Amino acid sequence: MILVLGSFGQLGTAFRTILGPDARSIDMEDLDLSDTETIYDRLSAYRPEMIINCAAYTAVDRAESEPEIARAINADAVREMAKAAGDLGARLVTFSTDYVFDGTANGSYVESDEPNPINIYGLTKREGEVAALAVNPDVLVVRTSWLLSGTHPNFASTMLRLAGGEGGRIVNDQRGHPTLVDDLAPAALEAVERGVTGILHLTNQGTASWFGLAGEIAVIAGLDSTVFEPCTTADFPTPARRPANSVLKSERLDAFGLHEMPHYREGLEEAVHGLVDRGLA
Ligand SMILES: NC(=O)c1ccc[n+]([C@@H]2O[C@H](COP(=O)([O-])OP(=O)(O)OC[C@H]3O[C@@H](n4cnc5c(N)ncnc54)[C@H](OP(=O)(O)O)[C@@H]3O)[C@@H](O)[C@H]2O)c1
Repeated sequence: MILVLGSFGQLGTAFRTILGPDARSIDMEDLDLSDTETIYDRLSAYRPEMIINCAAYTAVDRAESEPEIARAINADAVREMAKAAGDLGARLVTFSTDYVFDGTANGSYVESDEPNPINIYGLTKREGEVAALAVNPDVLVVRTSWLLSGTHPNFASTMLRLAGGEGGRIVNDQRGHPTLVDDLAPAALEAVERGVTGILHLTNQGTASWFGLAGEIAVIAGLDSTVFEPCTTADFPTPARRPANSVLKSERLDAFGLHEMPHYREGLEEAVHGLVDRGLA
């Protein structure tokens, strides 16, 4: 049995779609990951062969004022999953973030670069990586960035709403790899099949700034991209600091015969149309 945790989130939905009846969906009603003490026993009772953890505390700004709950879900729960998977002989794949880095590097970040999170979300995700691999080195931790889908509210749906209205000022001095969950889920499954363990960076190819990406999204939807104006991170203060450079690259793909994921533009159109069709824009 393959358990998908966070199965109704953005990435979990992509895994459910690919795996169909092979997946057993687990959501917060089945297992609340903030209840650390129960996780090991509850997961073990399912006797899974694989656990795909898409659940996380993902509210980056709110995490600044709720560090304990963010840590419970992003770090303590992941450690308990890793323990259970190790004892059951099950594979665990869990997801981490570009926000484990401080964004000050000149080039891309590879797996062996030293993390230095600058916000609570990134810190708790890093704690989850370390804790999981300490108790079970066979865990696969996939770091990814800037997730997009056609199924859930996300940056693209917000930009479509703004482009259809009065527009707005969008940050132009943060860069990263937009990544479609429909590309990420199969790439992660292939990495599991190839026996990758430890940390692996998986993102779509192609980098963008939030401002540049906003314009592309508007154009795809036939909306006016000139309603967006570029601004700096300093112009748009948020409770959590964000890294300026979020660009991940993998130094491990070749060793496992894995290919780079496609350019994000190949999947962006489908995601934008999905958001429009579902009334999420
Ligand atoms: N989104 C991004 O841009 C991004 C970038 C880099 C890395 N990541 C990582 O990629 C993974 C997937 O992200 P996503 O965008 O798919 O996240 P998402 O859409 O926010 O989904 C998160 C899931 O976690 C579940 N969850 C939250 N608290 C829980 C709890 N206490 N117990 C059980 N389940 C709980 C949520 O359930 P409810 O819906 O019921 O709350 C939801 O199903 C996460 O590990 C995230 O950190 C995301």
